[in-house]
Amino acid sequence: INTAEAKPLAFPIPANVYAETVVSVKHYTDRLFSFRITRPQSLRFRSGEFVMIGLPNAEKPVFRAYSVASPAWDEELEFFSIKVPDGPLTQHLQKIQPGDTVLMRQKATGTLVLDALTPAKRVFMISTGTGIAPFASLLRDPDTYEKFEQVIVTHTCRDVAELTYGKELVAALAQDPLIGELTHGRVTLYSTTTREESPYMGRITALIGSGKFYTDLGIDKLDPANDRVMICGSMHMLKDVKELVEGLGFEEGSLSQPSTFVVERAFVG
Ligand code: A2P
Repeated sequence: INTAEAKPLAFPIPANVYAETVVSVKHYTDRLFSFRITRPQSLRFRSGEFVMIGLPNAEKPVFRAYSVASPAWDEELEFFSIKVPDGPLTQHLQKIQPGDTVLMRQKATGTLVLDALTPAKRVFMISTGTGIAPFASLLRDPDTYEKFEQVIVTHTCRDVAELTYGKELVAALAQDPLIGELTHGRVTLYSTTTREESPYMGRITALIGSGKFYTDLGIDKLDPANDRVMICGSMHMLKDVKELVEGLGFEEGSLSQPSTFVVERAFVG
């Protein structure tokens, strides 16, 4: 049996929705997996944006926001997802296999885009859990390195195993034929855990607050004069990190009014 062949569908594809084919699936833990699907020729998006994803398993499929984890130049689309045992979408999505069909609404949108930030020396991409997905896209986009000299990515998860996706992503940058050279010596990944022993422990808010973040990396403190911040994670995390950077003098930017930080507005952890 050729599993990469498209399988017949039980329900018709809704209007104005792309039906794409799963190319590969990788499971990291019992809570996290990533998958790649074919990319519709007509889909345009900016690195950092999200799309609405669903499955053809009902007359009216459930759609959820997913940040595209692959860069805008990639021929496929990559996503990084949680698995929720009774989640309306993810309880089914976690079972997809190559050859299966994934539905996608035709519009990409989002606030975590380079154009919503004014130029600066360093960009800090602060994430928890699957919130690293939009940064996986931006880290593989040459525009990020054109705009910023240094990229500091923070990823906080409960357990060490949940950090694997981010570690593999950053480790693979050097080998990337398109952007490998561009990223050389310019990307720092700061991985921390909150519920399992690891070299760096604690919530990023606490680590920035105490200053341990800066001493661990040997870097200057966050300063709106030199730095830009992008934030993606759970609702509580977004609120807390936003308050923290606002306290440091950062201001939220948008496409119409670029400024010094951006937050993912639609992300559902
Ligand atoms: P903690 O274990 O202390 O809750 P989750 O898996 O629940 O989405 O969380 C992912 C990571 O985000 C966990 O390490 C969690 O830490 C951390 N986290 C949760 N809420 C916040 C917050 N308000 N600010 C910073 N980090 C948070």
